Amino acid sequence: MNIEQRDNHPKPLSTRLQRYKTRRPGGLALLAGLLLGGCAGEGAPPDNPLWDTPDMLAPAGPAAEVIAGLWWLLFSMAAVVFVVVLALFVYALFRRRGSEPEEVKEANPRLDRLLIVVGGITIPALILAVVFIATVRGLGALAAPDIPEERVIEVVGRQWWWEVHYPSYQFTTANEIHIPVGVPVQLRLTSADVIHSFWVPELHGKLDLMPNDINFLSLQAGEPGIYYGQCAEFCGLQHAKMGLIVVAQPMEEYLLWLEQQQQPAAEVSEEELLAGQRVFLSSDCGECHTIRGTDATGILGPDLTHLASRLTLAAGVLENNRGNLGGWISNPQSIKPGNKMPAVDLTGPQLQSLLVYLESLE
Ligand code: CUA
Repeated sequence: MNIEQRDNHPKPLSTRLQRYKTRRPGGLALLAGLLLGGCAGEGAPPDNPLWDTPDMLAPAGPAAEVIAGLWWLLFSMAAVVFVVVLALFVYALFRRRGSEPEEVKEANPRLDRLLIVVGGITIPALILAVVFIATVRGLGALAAPDIPEERVIEVVGRQWWWEVHYPSYQFTTANEIHIPVGVPVQLRLTSADVIHSFWVPELHGKLDLMPNDINFLSLQAGEPGIYYGQCAEFCGLQHAKMGLIVVAQPMEEYLLWLEQQQQPAAEVSEEELLAGQRVFLSSDCGECHTIRGTDATGILGPDLTHLASRLTLAAGVLENNRGNLGGWISNPQSIKPGNKMPAVDLTGPQLQSLLVYLESLE
């Protein structure tokens, strides 16, 4: 028998087990890497000192507190069950058994029945009863209270951004929802295309935005702050880049914001701003975008009347600054491939004056 023939023979079992054992740590590490890979990095909100990475276990409002409480209850009960079952399993694996048949213990039918009644029926029934009661109480606590009409905000999901209307104040903005601290507002959620899901983990659970339907969500923040949210229902290529922010403000600040957003864009008189406005209007930007107070009245894209007052661009993806805005206008498809914004073909000076104009829209 030559060496090549011998290599074709199956390896002895012990050798194969040895190989498996030595490979296993690498395999586990790979598996863990794949499983945990989604927890950070790609898809996380842009680093910004203004907001923390969203965390449903750091609730900042009453609804999120209820949900986090329920989560901890379910987690701790599941952890206890897991540990007990694992301990019994380990006990069964390693308990000493007699090697001779006469040493095997006599069966004990009464003990067996007791174990089945207690471990198989009573304890699971108790656990399920606790979960049921806690869930029903939690749902009751999440029920929407009566909210006055002036605190209603309509949110329309679109591929891949959020249109936000304040019907009592007759203005529209995008990707940024301002709310007063300490009182609930009612969100009326719907969609203009596919199903999206509204999720601001620190303030509330998820709720779908459905075409031709309205879902109601009451949102309340306990403290002023900026809370990051994310579309939580796969809605196409740029689902992961469909973010939004909720800005919770003291009531006075909130009312000032409402007043400012209601205004049309300030009239421009400076030559540079006028030039930028001409670029905007002559490049057909107004076919898709509205700037109240000008001839731009498009409704396919975000309302830009107060673009410069917003914190992010492209639905929470980019910080709103001149560099990012220039990059977005020059090549939006490189930032969110598949989105509906076409690249605008502009000369350098045209782009510069357009940026100066857009940055004046506070
Ligand atoms: Cu919208 Cu996912």
